[in-house]
Amino acid sequence: MQFPLLLPTLLFGQVLGQTLDDPDRDHAWAPAGPGDFRGPCPMMNTLANHGFIQRDGANITRENAVNGLREGLNFNPDLSNIMFDQAIIANPEPNATYFTLDQLNVHNLLEHDASLSRSDAYFGNNHVFNQTVFDETKKWWQGPIINANMLANSKVARQLSSKAFNPTYVFTQLTEEFSLGEVVAPVIAFGDIEAVTVNRTLVEYFFENERLPTVLGWKKREDVISLSTIFHATSVLRNATSLFTDSKAVLSKRKLSRNSHFG
Ligand code: HEM
Ligand SMILES: *[C@@H]1O[C@H](CO)[C@@H](O)[C@H](O)[C@H]1NC(C)=O
Ligand SMILES: *[C@@H]1O[C@H](CO)[C@@H](O)[C@H](O)[C@H]1NC(C)=O
Ligand SMILES: *[C@@H]1O[C@H](CO)[C@@H](O)[C@H](O)[C@H]1NC(C)=O
Ligand SMILES: *[C@@H]1O[C@H](CO)[C@@H](O)[C@H](O)[C@H]1NC(C)=O
Ligand SMILES: *[C@@H]1O[C@H](CO)[C@@H](O)[C@H](O)[C@H]1NC(C)=O
Ligand SMILES: [Mg+2]
Repeated sequence: MQFPLLLPTLLFGQVLGQTLDDPDRDHAWAPAGPGDFRGPCPMMNTLANHGFIQRDGANITRENAVNGLREGLNFNPDLSNIMFDQAIIANPEPNATYFTLDQLNVHNLLEHDASLSRSDAYFGNNHVFNQTVFDETKKWWQGPIINANMLANSKVARQLSSKAFNPTYVFTQLTEEFSLGEVVAPVIAFGDIEAVTVNRTLVEYFFENERLPTVLGWKKREDVISLSTIFHATSVLRNATSLFTDSKAVLSKRKLSRNSHFG
């Protein structure tokens, strides 16, 4: 997912005619079968597992993406169109009109190092969920509610681990923009966007099962998610990735420790 980079002109891109939601359509979860395509995005995999986009993960057109993101998550079409525009480079064919989930696997195109739940390509499979990597990530989510600081810490920790141990580590400023959107995505889908918090149980269930956490009481948002909704959350996350504090925070901590030890 990649939100913050977008040129304002893209906002006025094409908006497709909306088809009516069919309340009878079956969105039961089923894992990918043999021959189905999946990729490095836990949410696109999830939407395929529920049939919000085609279950085989192949040939996802603009209309498929816009409808799937609206029906599954209540994303507004403008936002989904922007995301599709950014994703279509995954299909190497000139003037492609669709992409297939496994086309997202190409390393250093859209897929990048230091993911929260996937290994760096250097160490192994860069697109299948990796429990070892995700356990490293979860270490930083210290509480039943994940906040922006914890999300930022897990992101920075994954980058530091890659920078230290992966000699092919690549993470550009462009990667950073994509990564911020991805790391805050669980808040967008399942959390409190204003507060930039999300229930950890729901997030873990989502990553580990590639399934919407409906059974845990989650429901699709009633308010439509737009680019401006997301912008706030990515800004808070971006700030939280800084390793600096202001001096007030440091002073008040010193004061606190002085009081508690010598007070
Ligand atoms: C057109 C729609 C989308 C496309 C093409 C797409 C594509 C991608 C790609 C290529 C990655 C891999 C980046 C990496 O970690 O190396 C990714 C990661 C991710 N995406 Fe998506 N995405 C889409 C929509 C969404 C949505 C709607 C959400 C949730 C609201 C989402 C959540 C995530 C998360 C959480 C990750 C990070 C996984 C990790 O770090 O292990 N994506 N996406
Ligand atoms: C659909 O996707 C499959 C797998 O990527 C591809 O082989 C096939 O040509 C595509 N079909 C169409 C109609 O584009
Ligand atoms: C792709 O689109 C461009 C611009 O419309 C066109 O000039 C070009 O011929 C197209 N390429 C193919 C392979 O269809
Ligand atoms: C999972 O990730 C770790 C760390 O990058 C790696 O050593 C391991 O080979 C990966 N497992 C698989 C199945 O790719
Ligand atoms: C998080 O969600 C789970 C599953 O619905 C629920 O049992 C738990 O009470 C929630 N945690 C918090 C802190 O709200
Ligand atoms: C992020 O930090 C900048 C610079 O300190 C500040 O101006 C801005 O208001 C902060 N943004 C958010 C969303 O907290
Ligand atoms: Mg990756």
